[in-house]
Amino acid sequence: MKKIAVFTSGGDSPGMNACIRAVVRTGIYHEIDVYGIMYGYDGMINGSIRKMQSHSVSNILQRGGTILKSARSENFRTKEGRKKAYDELTKHGIEGLVAIGGDGTFTGAKIFFEEFGIPTVGCPGTIDNDIFGTDYTIGFDTAVNTALEAIDKIRDTAAAHDRIFFIEVMGRDSGYIAIECGIGGGAELVMVPETTTTIDDVVKSLKGLRKSKTSSIVVVAEGDEEGGAAQIMDKVKSQFKGDDKEFKVTTLGHIQRGGSPTAKDRILGSRSGMAAVEGLLKGESNCMAGIINDQVVYSPFEECINKSKPLKEEYLRLQELLSI
Ligand code: F6P
Repeated sequence: MKKIAVFTSGGDSPGMNACIRAVVRTGIYHEIDVYGIMYGYDGMINGSIRKMQSHSVSNILQRGGTILKSARSENFRTKEGRKKAYDELTKHGIEGLVAIGGDGTFTGAKIFFEEFGIPTVGCPGTIDNDIFGTDYTIGFDTAVNTALEAIDKIRDTAAAHDRIFFIEVMGRDSGYIAIECGIGGGAELVMVPETTTTIDDVVKSLKGLRKSKTSSIVVVAEGDEEGGAAQIMDKVKSQFKGDDKEFKVTTLGHIQRGGSPTAKDRILGSRSGMAAVEGLLKGESNCMAGIINDQVVYSPFEECINKSKPLKEEYLRLQELLSI
């Protein structure tokens, strides 16, 4: 293998740049040409492909976002789009791919490999930490720390006014960010898609907590089955009629996706990037280079996409136990 390409796809996450840098420099170390594809699968289809040098990835390690840009490609969902992408890659003589992204990215990579056979290794890049085959995903640690900083600030004002705050964090299908922020930020309650917490449960807990606390924080993962934080707050508030308790809502949103990556995310991105390239050179394909128990593990895309990574029971219990 003499020419490979790297791209980022789906939602960006802090640490993706560290991963790109590792892919480029590992390739150069092994004397292969590395190309960067702009805007994920869209750039593959449009031929937005350029050769990268060591200096192309200078001074990016500490930056959030992705220098290769990202997109969620509709065209790549079609066979015609994928054929165009294959033709563009062939035109550039590209023999291997490194795909940095989440489960949507890997679903595309798996189909593409099955149709056209270009060896592909993935790196887990998403703030959600919802990918099987790796203990953590690139960007998760930064997102949790960003959310935590915000929660600490909200707690100050919540305590000053004896208010109940509902804080929405990201996590469309996953409560990883919510539970870790909940533990780290001392939330009174955490609502995640993986467990069922009814409005009655929330009302009961909050009313119970009022005996010992004057303010409370409820962290809500955006994908919770009861809705987003604003909806949940309205439903809860309606059951506190005649009570002078004040309720507020804050949606943290995309601030969780940006910012300088933590040391953990820079190291994870770098390790996964190096492992992806060296994996490709050793014949790994159609799989993701994750880190499990501090060791590089290549897991088939099939498993990364279809197996779920449940929240740790211990974390759920810990949060509940410490919130009394
Ligand atoms: O998958 C990562 C993620 O940040 C989710 O937590 C969130 O629901 C989604 O992306 C938001 O996507 P977009 O940036 O396209 O609105």
